[in-house]
Amino acid sequence: MDTNVSRRRFLGTAGIGAASVGALSALAAEGAEPDSALKIVAVACSPRKGKTTAQALGMCLEAAKAVAPERIEIELVELAGLKIPAELAAGIPLEAGQADDFPEVAAKLSDPTVGAIIVGTPVYFANMATLCKAFIDRCGMFRKNKFALSGKIAGVLAVGGVRNGGQELVIQSVQASLFCHEMLVVGDGRPTGHFGACLWNDGSDDVSKDEFGVATAKNLGRHMAEVALARGTP
Ligand SMILES: Cc1cc2nc3c(=O)[nH]c(=O)nc-3n(C[C@H](O)[C@H](O)[C@H](O)COP(=O)(O)O)c2cc1C
Repeated sequence: MDTNVSRRRFLGTAGIGAASVGALSALAAEGAEPDSALKIVAVACSPRKGKTTAQALGMCLEAAKAVAPERIEIELVELAGLKIPAELAAGIPLEAGQADDFPEVAAKLSDPTVGAIIVGTPVYFANMATLCKAFIDRCGMFRKNKFALSGKIAGVLAVGGVRNGGQELVIQSVQASLFCHEMLVVGDGRPTGHFGACLWNDGSDDVSKDEFGVATAKNLGRHMAEVALARGTP
């Protein structure tokens, strides 16, 4: 992959028509210097540490890094084992002694070099996992803080125990929340080219066997990196 993604190439790759070119020019103009470091962070929202959501996000991140290994830094943040009380988002204070690990996650996402964020979740009864919803609700603090995630590239990955167990529904639901942050939401790139990464865990807890799903994860990572490089760090 050409590490120097030219704007013309990006426009062609993204299939963006003439009407959008002005908006992209404005975006590129306010981006960071072309050679600055770019960090891509993936947040694994499964309560099971190191399992299929984390595994799939790892593939996604590796594909992103391969776009420009010398410029792109990747990090996987696992929420498994962390306490993310959702009620704080509704203004309900923590009880005495109640733990809250969200600030350490928020600090990672607040790093100014972060240009893209991938949210990964297992499918739970055709919805995102509880931990994912708690994470999304708590991310409201970024929106309240001058839309701090605005302009960052966003993508979504979902893993289900069934081939068609609700992955696309979950992706759409998570994407809807990311739109609320003025994030620039993208799907998996060509040739799979749909809504995001959709993976199937056949019960073995090894999604590397899901050839098509792995392709969507890799294409999501690659596409996000390409767009993020063209965009520059917001
Ligand atoms: C409570 C619960 C509900 C689930 N509901 C669904 C579902 O609706 N559709 C589906 O495809 N898989 C469902 N699964 C399976 C998980 O999505 C699947 O095992 C996934 O790989 C788990 O991700 P993890 O390995 O990162 O924890 C469910 C699993 C649990 C525990």
